[in-house]
Amino acid sequence: MKFFLDTANLEEIREVASWGVLDGVTTNPSLCSKENIKFEDNIREICALVGGPVSAECVSLRSEEIVPEARALAKIASNVAVKIPVGLEGLKATKALAAEGISVNMTLVFSASQALLAAKAGAKFVSPFIGRLDDVSEDGMALIEEIVQVFENYRFGTEIIVASVRHPRHVVEAALLGADIATVPYAVMEKLVRHPLTDAGIERFLSDWKKVRK
Ligand code: G3P
Repeated sequence: MKFFLDTANLEEIREVASWGVLDGVTTNPSLCSKENIKFEDNIREICALVGGPVSAECVSLRSEEIVPEARALAKIASNVAVKIPVGLEGLKATKALAAEGISVNMTLVFSASQALLAAKAGAKFVSPFIGRLDDVSEDGMALIEEIVQVFENYRFGTEIIVASVRHPRHVVEAALLGADIATVPYAVMEKLVRHPLTDAGIERFLSDWKKVRK
């Protein structure tokens, strides 16, 4: 499974890149609003730090406006994937952009039917938001299971980015279902590697090491 970092923060990206497990980055307007840097400069710097895809979101709502906005974002760097909210206008824009070879990450996906249409329109990625479904008493992971099955049935090349990840179990369950990618906030990324028994084990080994004859 590929790991993307769900952030626009350059320090977090540098840090996780140094762990050797970073395959890409996803941003959105909410994440970019937290950074004290111009949007385009931020995306450019992120793209320079990460070899893999970096999602930058379009804010236009009509396909005639989404397409030029997406083209401009794609010009920032060769690894930009333009994020477009799913919908009729987004589908039209995706079809046109995919024909030009621009990678589209169709976002705000909350149903398998939306994912199916996004794949048919030529999206390279779909981003189902599982945490937000869990927040309204729905089953986010059940949606991932459905999309994995649908994409396998028809051998779509579209990759599933499990988004709105809230805790390590989300990542493990996404991996068990065979999702292509999880985009993970920094705080969850840190939690993935920690275990109290590992910490206790290290402490005991270090303490016993002092008693070993040297
Ligand atoms: O990648 C989409 C993700 O950032 C949404 O997460 O936590 O705002 O639901 P959240």
